[in-house]
Amino acid sequence: MKKILMVCLGNICRSPLAEGILKSKLNSKTFLVDSAGTSAYHVGELPDKRSIEVAKKHGLDITNQKARQFMIDDFETFDEIFVMDKSNYHNIIKKAKNDQQEKKVTMILNESFPNENKEVPDPYHGGEAGFENVYQMLDEACDIIAKRL
Ligand code: 4NP
Repeated sequence: MKKILMVCLGNICRSPLAEGILKSKLNSKTFLVDSAGTSAYHVGELPDKRSIEVAKKHGLDITNQKARQFMIDDFETFDEIFVMDKSNYHNIIKKAKNDQQEKKVTMILNESFPNENKEVPDPYHGGEAGFENVYQMLDEACDIIAKRL
């Protein structure tokens, strides 16, 4: 079983979408996809309504998800850890205890834009168009990830 973790700040907007999108492109018998937030702000909550809505519009149901905080053990559990932005990257990397763990962490948009360190913008304080934009970016990156895996 290959295990992949999607990480953002709150685990209610971006990483739940990334989890739902990648899951839809992989065989659930051989891949486990999960998501987490670097913060504890929204632990236990459903994804943001706007993420649920944009996912639904594209045929995905993400209402089975509940926000949780990233934990040190995730470095052992998961094979690959994708982060949405530089802040997530630094917050996670500082918890790694060796090179092998550090290497598991990459910026998700480096899949579609290699080495550019582009960020998935935090859509929390914006409107619905921001969520559609995030969906499109993540869909493109997850397509590449799914083909590689
Ligand atoms: P996310 O978006 O990291 O994509 O889940 C956010 C959600 C909530 C907050 C920040 C970002 N917040 O500050 O509450």
